[in-house]
Amino acid sequence: MRFPQDFLFGAASAAYQVEGAWNEDGKGLSNWDVFSKIPGKTFENTNGDVAVDHYHRYKEDIKLMAEMELESYRFSISWARIIPDGDGEVNHKGLEFYNNVIDECLKYGIVPFVTLYHWDLPQALEEDGGWANKRSIDAFAKYAEVCYKAFGDRVKHWITFNETVVFCTHGYIFGAHPPGLENDQKKYFQATHNVFVAHAKAVQIYKSLKQYGEIGITHVFNPAYSIDDTEDNLFAEMHANYYQTFWYYDPILKGEYPEYVVKRLEEQGLTPDWTEEELTLLKEMADSNDFMGLNYYQPARVAKLQETIDLTSFSEISKGKSGSPSFDGVYKTVMMDDKVYTKWGWEISAEGFLDGLRMLKERYGDVKLYVTENGLGDEDPIIDNEIVDVPRIKYIEEHLKVVKRAIEEGINLKGYYAWSVIDLLSWLNGFKKQYGFIYVDHKNNLERKKKLSFHWYKHIIETRGEEL
Ligand code: BG6
Repeated sequence: MRFPQDFLFGAASAAYQVEGAWNEDGKGLSNWDVFSKIPGKTFENTNGDVAVDHYHRYKEDIKLMAEMELESYRFSISWARIIPDGDGEVNHKGLEFYNNVIDECLKYGIVPFVTLYHWDLPQALEEDGGWANKRSIDAFAKYAEVCYKAFGDRVKHWITFNETVVFCTHGYIFGAHPPGLENDQKKYFQATHNVFVAHAKAVQIYKSLKQYGEIGITHVFNPAYSIDDTEDNLFAEMHANYYQTFWYYDPILKGEYPEYVVKRLEEQGLTPDWTEEELTLLKEMADSNDFMGLNYYQPARVAKLQETIDLTSFSEISKGKSGSPSFDGVYKTVMMDDKVYTKWGWEISAEGFLDGLRMLKERYGDVKLYVTENGLGDEDPIIDNEIVDVPRIKYIEEHLKVVKRAIEEGINLKGYYAWSVIDLLSWLNGFKKQYGFIYVDHKNNLERKKKLSFHWYKHIIETRGEEL
C-alpha cells in the first residue's frame, strides 16, 4: 500500500526550541526565557536565547525542508512575540515574522500546521499565576483570535495546545518546568481544567470566524500497559490510563471528565474550581474539535505501588522517569528486561503504539488523528563527516509501518510529523539529545547539514511509503 494522497508527511519544531532572537523585534519575555536562566534548571544551563537561530535562518531551513519534499511543517508561534505582555498590545513585528515563515512555506507548497501554544507563556501571565489563574484562559482566547485573523487566510490547520500533561505535570508536580512548583496537585488539576476551557474557547472563536480550516489539540499519547496479568497491576494500568490519558482526552473528545477521576478528586479535595458555564462550553465544543494530535514516543509499563511513599518529599524520589512512583502514589512505571530503551531510557515500542491506537478507537470512535510528534532522541554518530543516524531511520521506519497498518485497520490517521525537522534545543537535555533530519553544527556557526535520515525520509515521501 502507498499512503493515501491526502495523508501528510511532515516534520515539526517549536518556537522556543529553534528560534532564538529571544529579545528581538519587540518580543516580550516568556516564562522559559526566565526559567531556563535559573542555575541548575536545564542541562548544562542551556537556554533558547539563540537556539538554532531559526528566526534569522528560516529561509535556509524551509528551503532544506522543500528539498526533503516535506509536505507539511508543524511549527509553533511564540505568544510573547505576538502579544508581549500576554493580553495587551499586539506587536506587529511578531506578526511579520510568522507571515514570512508561512509565505515561505507556501512558496514551496509546504502546508503550515501551526501550534499556538508550545509551552512558552508570556512571563507577565506566569507571574500572575500562569495556567492556574483563569486570566490565562481569556488571554489565550484573545491571542488565538489575533493569530486566526492575521494568518487564517493561509493557515488551515491549527493546534491549540501541545502536551498539556507535560507542561502541567512538570510545572506543578515535578518542579522541572515553569512555574517550578513541586507536588501542588490542587494547582495541577486547576491548570489542566483551565487549559481545556481555553482550548474550547479558542475552538469556538475559530468556528465563528468561518475560515473553514481545521482545529484540534495535541496530547501526549502514553498508553499504559500492566507488566503482568495480576489483579493489582491490571488495576494500575486502568488507573494510569484514566489519569494520564482519559483525563486529557475525554474533556476534548467527549466534552466531560471521566467519572473515575472526578470521584477521586472530590474525595481528596482536589476538584478544580469549575463553573457550570465552563463545563457546558466543554460539552458544546466537543463536536467542533476536528482532530486529535498524538505525540507518541513510548508506552508506560506499570505496576501497582505496594509500598507507601512520602508524598511530601515527592520531588526527591521522582521526576516522572521510568521506575518512579506516580504522583498520587498509586502505581509506578517499570523498566522491563525484555524491552528496548533509548540512551535516555525511553522504551522503543511501535507495537505499543498500535495497541494504543486500537484502545483510542474503542473509546472515542472514528476521530481524525494526526501523529504530531514521533522520533528518536540520540547522540548521532558522525563517520567521515557524514551524520549516519541509522537508529533514527530504524525508529521512524518501525513507527511508520505501524501507522500504515493502523490505516489499513480503519483507524482515521491523516498525517505523520516526525520530531524534529532539525536538531533543536531539548527543554531539559540541551543540544546533546538530537532528533532532527537536519544537523546543526554548534562548533561551526550553526551550519546546517543533511543527515542520512534526510535522504531516507525524502525517499519515503517520494514513494509514499510504498516500500514500508
Ligand atoms: C515532546 C515535546 O514532549 O517531546 C517536544 O513536545 C520535545 O517539545 C520532545 O522536544 C522531546 O523531548 P526531549 O525531552 O527528549 O527533548
